[in-house]
Amino acid sequence: MGLFSSSTQTIPVSGEVPSHIAVIMDGNGRWARKRFLPRVAGHKRGVEVVRGLVKQCAKLNVKYLTLFAFSSENWRRPEDEVSFLMGLFMDSLKREVTKLHENNIRLVLIGNRSKFSTELVTQIELAEELTAKNTGLTLTIAANYGGRWDILNATNQMVSKNAIKHPGKADFTEEDLAPHLAMHYATEPDLFIRTGGEKRVSNFLLWQLAYTEFYFTDTLWPDFDEKAFQLAIQSYQQRERRFGRTSEQLASSNA
Ligand code: IPE
Ligand code: IPE
Ligand code: MG
Repeated sequence: MGLFSSSTQTIPVSGEVPSHIAVIMDGNGRWARKRFLPRVAGHKRGVEVVRGLVKQCAKLNVKYLTLFAFSSENWRRPEDEVSFLMGLFMDSLKREVTKLHENNIRLVLIGNRSKFSTELVTQIELAEELTAKNTGLTLTIAANYGGRWDILNATNQMVSKNAIKHPGKADFTEEDLAPHLAMHYATEPDLFIRTGGEKRVSNFLLWQLAYTEFYFTDTLWPDFDEKAFQLAIQSYQQRERRFGRTSEQLASSNA
């Protein structure tokens, strides 16, 4: 079952904690280089930061936390870095899944799994099955994910689903497409955070970020601590989300 309410339709109450936070965890390599360490030391440290962030989001009753762990373009990196990242992903899954489950956290992986080892795919499936019924925070890890891949994949599914029932149908709507997107189970992100100073989306959730509030910080991912996260939340809470309307309209609808 999909979730069809687009966040561009309903305005969340201003000053609230965002219910869906999506993060590009960038700057691991630079963090390591600054310390004359190999890049992978930054990735290792980055996992610790993920652990802390998950804890904080659970405490704040955030409903969805979505983390970009590996993009469809990251295969272009040196082979040893790619294989380190795959190994780290595998180890972290194994190590953390019980704790996630104990904390009522549901884990979901989005992205193209076809390039992963069978061992990794099995581990992902086990983790997803174990935590599927949990009702607390939904933690989504985007791995071998690309926003364009997601949209194309959803389009292909939508078209082939309709080919039999409605041959020749050419008037598809957003509601037809939405259930086929990788994150059909979640509302669209309220807050997007990118650490590491770059101001770009890097093929993350292209469809779902249509009306998300953006927050960029120069803080490198391994340094993104509780205080840095609070600054991002505070920045979000000061914004007025209008979704095309005017300030005056919002004021009168709140009155
Ligand atoms: C983000 O950090 C982690 C991944 C992309 C897997 P980077 O590895 O991109 O770090 P920088 O941007 O080179 O510092
Ligand atoms: C984006 O980071 C992907 C992840 C954080 C996993 P990159 O560091 O790979 O992004 P670009 O290529 O510099 O835009
Ligand atoms: Mg980077």
